[in-house]
Amino acid sequence: MLTLTKTTRVFSKPSKRRVHEILRCLDSLGKCFLHRVVLGIETSCDDTAAAVVDDTGQVLGEAIHSQTEVHLKTGGIVPPVAQQLHRENIERIVQQALLASKISPTELSAIATTIKPGLALSLGVGLTFSVQLVNQFKKPFIPIHHMEAHALTIRLTNKVEFPFLVLLISGGHCLLALVRGVSDFLLLGKSLDIAPGDMLDKVARRLSLIKHPECSTMSGGKAIEFLAKRGNRLHFDLRPPMQRAKNCDFSFTGLQHITDKIIMQKEREEGIEKGQVLSSAADIAAAVQHTVACHIAKRTHRALLFCQQRDLLPRNNAILVVSGGVASNFYIRKALEIITNATQCTLLCPPPRLCTDNGVMIAWNGIERLRAGLGILHEVKDIRYEPKCPLGIDISKEVGEAAIKVPSLKMNI
Ligand code: KG4
Ligand code: ZN
Repeated sequence: MLTLTKTTRVFSKPSKRRVHEILRCLDSLGKCFLHRVVLGIETSCDDTAAAVVDDTGQVLGEAIHSQTEVHLKTGGIVPPVAQQLHRENIERIVQQALLASKISPTELSAIATTIKPGLALSLGVGLTFSVQLVNQFKKPFIPIHHMEAHALTIRLTNKVEFPFLVLLISGGHCLLALVRGVSDFLLLGKSLDIAPGDMLDKVARRLSLIKHPECSTMSGGKAIEFLAKRGNRLHFDLRPPMQRAKNCDFSFTGLQHITDKIIMQKEREEGIEKGQVLSSAADIAAAVQHTVACHIAKRTHRALLFCQQRDLLPRNNAILVVSGGVASNFYIRKALEIITNATQCTLLCPPPRLCTDNGVMIAWNGIERLRAGLGILHEVKDIRYEPKCPLGIDISKEVGEAAIKVPSLKMNI
């Protein structure tokens, strides 16, 4: 009799509110036990970003504060200014990402944060904040290499197996690497001087595109892409750099200096002062963008041929992934498509918002490392940030020694 009463009570119809509570509980139990959930924090350069991602690749919440507008006004990133802006925004951005995800910090499987490479003062803000969180909530910590995160982002958006070739082109980096595993990279080539995004930013500044009514809030690279659409690249004869060097390295400083000279000459011809927008700005933007695209495509073509010769990529359906801020440039993507078509490879790019710096890629890198059981720390006392940190094993010398001749392709973009 007693048992019957008890059973009746347990199975009596629960109230709507109770059902709602139970569902919510199950939902968050599901999120934190069935799926691993990682909070990712990114402050390596000029974006304060955070995101919560689960191991199915679902982005549960994300938030970002971009400093681009401030740095455009100062004509480049001033590290103490970037640091101050990170400090002012990090707590709010992390809170926003967590709130949107409906995950409380106690439910997280781990906290992942970019600790290398990047601007020392910027990296420091993210690391200090993360260490506090880790200690407060007693969570594992996963230190993240910024370029590794860019490289692995594609595995969140597409079903991509290892190995694949990756080209990372941004404001601070330029490299070609073979990705053999979550933290297993062979570096085939890198920029010997500045990165393409940095070069495009400098050209955009020299062209005073911030004064152009339609480009004033765009990053330099984006402004160049925007203006190039209405320019004629054939008005200027720019040649891609390093044509004789049969390796996969890059260089952009020479091209930047030649462009500076062209701008100076045009200012004289048009009779305008430095700081005003040239009438030929769109033509210059188109010529520079085309030359950068050809240079990047040629080095990438050689890297693909090297990997194919050495059987480093699958014979069928080899994949080239392009990421980093400059990868959001559709002209450069088209140039790379010509290369992948010629080599029977597939070109994959994350969507533009995941190409530039973001918190999602850091959280996803955390998930990848959790799954692989790599670099998960339970003690953060001795953790330090590293402003300079190469990616993987450098085999660029061997690539150069192979001296692969790359066939000329028509770059009709
Ligand atoms: O990856 P990212 O957000 O930051 C790092 O440098 O790590 O890349 C920012 C860079 C800037 O130099 C910006 O000018 C460039 O990416 N960029 C572009 C475009 N959008 C951003 N470059 C060319 N075309 C674009 N559409
Ligand atoms: Zn980046």
